Amino acid sequence: MAGLTLERATRRFSADRAAVDQVDLAVAEGEFLAVLGPSGCGKTTLLRLVAGFERLDDGVIRLGAETVSAPGLHVPPEDRRVGVVFQSYALWPHMTVARNVGYALEVRGLRGAEYQKRVDAALGTVGLADYAERRPASLSGGQRQRVALARCLAMDPRLVLLDEPLANLDVHLRHAMQEEFAQFHRATGATMLYVTHDQAEALALADRVAVMDGGKLVQLADPRTLYREPATVMVAGFIGKGAVVPGLVLDGHGGHATIEVLGARVTLRAPAEARPGPAHILLRPEALSLTAGDGIAATVRRIVYQGAQNAVELAPAAAPEQTLHWLAPADASPKPGDALRLAVADGWVIPKP
Ligand SMILES: Nc1ncnc2c1ncn2[C@@H]1O[C@H](COP(=O)(O)OP(=O)(O)OP(=O)(O)O)[C@@H](O)[C@H]1O
Ligand SMILES: [Mg+2]
Repeated sequence: MAGLTLERATRRFSADRAAVDQVDLAVAEGEFLAVLGPSGCGKTTLLRLVAGFERLDDGVIRLGAETVSAPGLHVPPEDRRVGVVFQSYALWPHMTVARNVGYALEVRGLRGAEYQKRVDAALGTVGLADYAERRPASLSGGQRQRVALARCLAMDPRLVLLDEPLANLDVHLRHAMQEEFAQFHRATGATMLYVTHDQAEALALADRVAVMDGGKLVQLADPRTLYREPATVMVAGFIGKGAVVPGLVLDGHGGHATIEVLGARVTLRAPAEARPGPAHILLRPEALSLTAGDGIAATVRRIVYQGAQNAVELAPAAAPEQTLHWLAPADASPKPGDALRLAVADGWVIPKP
């Protein structure tokens, strides 16, 4: 399979706003990249640009070494060898599973042994070899999605694009299918671009995640970096749980900074360029713990029982309009209205825009 490069890729549906706005992105050969962001941020448009269903207004898209989109150049979708799997599986109800998988090959004039070999291999890869003669109506949602995946594989694509392929499935099946996608990726070594608005899905599946906001790519990083070092307040709020609160950087030194936050003075992780002054601070629930000493004074607002632990929402005394999240061990049982102090073991100073 081939890698994918976007340079300043831009698509405007109206004069005043770009749905995809100057996106620079390089996906390595064999990489599983998730594109994540809220509804309307431009994920599907980005994917349609790569597939060739949309034309670029500006910029360049390359598949491997081949330029497929540029000003004055547009390779049509059928000549890109890009496989696309949508949320709606778009299977032909009157055709068998095997014929659904092979139909595009048939249209291309493939017949006989080569045709059969490609269909069998694709069905084998997704674990549906025994379902070849069934019709889509007699399959589960997850199995139908696997037929769509096999159909895309049979075309021997250079790149596989998936647009929220699990959005139609219930929570339980989503988890099972996530594992199948991961396995599919390991088995095929395919370069994959996987669009989702589910951050847990993106973090679980992808080598790297591209977060989009308002048509722009705001951060491209591996899941751990995205969680620990979000580039913007939007990313911090979108990935994982936590509170983004106002703080004051007193001084920065070698990736750390001394911060005054919600009445406590703490040392947290910070970008190398952090300078004294006001900043947004990200505090994750797992970094807070009960203390008898110095810490953030807060009042318990709400407790959600979660079995092994309790999710606790608190109002900090220094800024009661803010909400802190803390994971309290099951044996610590605070009650709404309790006043307590929280030590801060870790946190992140969000970079200035
Ligand atoms: N064909 C079109 N004509 C005009 N505007 C469009 C068209 N397609 C998309 N848009 C607009 O472009 C923006 C991005 O849409 P897009 O479908 O890419 O978002 P998305 O991130 O996939 O959202 P969702 O998570 O809801 O699927 C939206 O504001 C949308 O209304
Ligand atoms: Mg979409």
